[in-house]
Amino acid sequence: MTDIIGIAGSLRKGSYNAALLRAAVEFVPDGHRLEIESIAGIPLYNYDLEADGIPEPVARLKDRIATADGLLIVTPEYNNAIPGVAKNAVDWLTRPPGDISRVFRGKPVAVMGASPGRFGTVMAQAAWLPVLRTLRTRPWFGGRLQVSSANEMFDEEGRLVDEKIRDLLREFVSGFFEFAAR
Ligand code: FNR
Repeated sequence: MTDIIGIAGSLRKGSYNAALLRAAVEFVPDGHRLEIESIAGIPLYNYDLEADGIPEPVARLKDRIATADGLLIVTPEYNNAIPGVAKNAVDWLTRPPGDISRVFRGKPVAVMGASPGRFGTVMAQAAWLPVLRTLRTRPWFGGRLQVSSANEMFDEEGRLVDEKIRDLLREFVSGFFEFAAR
């Protein structure tokens, strides 16, 4: 069984990125698992806080990623870059630095995202690349998914209803699971 952790980089209840991640779960190949983890409990990074110990939600998420076969980041885009809450969460996951290799080294990572704008997080996805390289992950470049006009792709309940995007998402998810299984 291939076990992937998915995190959405938004805290918003009606987040399109969280909705996209939930939709991805529908397309997980039989016998495999995509488990959604939240960054909601992660505090703002502060070295003084770290000196008191790694906060429990951070330690727990680090352990989950460390033992998973891959990580799927579903990123919003703010000002053509990574939203602060998402970057803050990943920054915490890299503490202490001695633990980076346990959590991230060689880890298959895929990035996708959704925005109401025309470019569907293309800049935010590019902004993740130096982070993934720094952490010595194994990024998956076999597929891309930028969901633009996200406000038209989901229904009131946050279900992905656009058939074209559903097909692209199915392809993306199966491609990443295949990659992470290797
Ligand atoms: C945005 N948004 C945005 N969208 C985009 O495509 N490119 C951008 O550069 C920005 N910049 C930006 C800055 C800030 C501060 C905010 C609050 C928003 C819009 C953004 O894509 C939209 O709010 C999404 O709904 C955020 O993702 P979630 O929360 O729906 O997952």
